[in-house]
Amino acid sequence: MTRIIAIINQKGGVGKTTTTANLCHALAELGKKVTVIDFDPQGHLAVSFGIISHNLSGIDLALLKEKTIEEQVLPVRENLQIIPAGSKLKDVEQMSNTGSPRGVMLRDALRGQLTDQDFIFIDCPPSSGLLVANGLIATQEILVPMASDFLALQGLSHLMATVKRFEGALKRQYKISVVISRYMSTRRISGQVLNILLSHFPNQILATVIRETALLAECPSFGQTILEYSPKSRSARDFRNLANDFLENRVMTNDNK
Ligand SMILES: Nc1ncnc2c1ncn2[C@@H]1O[C@H](COP(=O)(O)OP(=O)(O)O)[C@@H](O)[C@H]1O
Ligand SMILES: [Mg+2]
Repeated sequence: MTRIIAIINQKGGVGKTTTTANLCHALAELGKKVTVIDFDPQGHLAVSFGIISHNLSGIDLALLKEKTIEEQVLPVRENLQIIPAGSKLKDVEQMSNTGSPRGVMLRDALRGQLTDQDFIFIDCPPSSGLLVANGLIATQEILVPMASDFLALQGLSHLMATVKRFEGALKRQYKISVVISRYMSTRRISGQVLNILLSHFPNQILATVIRETALLAECPSFGQTILEYSPKSRSARDFRNLANDFLENRVMTNDNK
């Protein structure tokens, strides 16, 4: 069974793309077959893997039914492939009604595709528009990167309201996991935010905290993940541990914090 996971948070800059790129590479290193969909028209995920071509097509044409998803796959590392955003993805959000329901484009495009994959991750844009709706309708699982600052908490109720709305409409519940993505242990607010998150998401926060480091901010400019840019760094270790947490469902509890 292929697990399909949407990486969502309507707030920008919280570490969605960083988490997607590095977690997916760590899972691929563990031998899992992983496909990542760059669902943000900005195309930063592709850049993170060193793909800099601007006239790529990708998930855009698959949503528009001009290509199949499998035709749009680009191998980037061993066991890891990406479906780029494509230059028309930004138009999809503004698409006029074409007759078919617009929220199910991704779900339909994925049907019967990539069945040999262990995981399909969808790196969603920072919005709550049509693309995110497509991401939520196509998946059973969501992974929410949370930066540990006060403003991150402000967006949380909006995010959870969105998720609840989709759960109600789809008549099913998501498996929800949270990643603490930009943790600064020297800041008291980080610990305070983490405690609040623990009470909101009992047994849903993955055990490993991703710390804020200069290396993690640097590696996309070299088109490398942290596992390549600095494989022995603590950030590489964070992501390897996070990959194991994800596979084994290891979560934080109030007492191991
Ligand atoms: N743990 C981290 N340490 C240092 N920089 C980070 C970390 N996580 C993300 N960043 C940086 O913060 C910025 C926003 O992160 P990004 O993953 O693109 O967020 P999003 O996809 O949610 O908008 C990027 O410049 C990225 O390199
Ligand atoms: Mg992003």
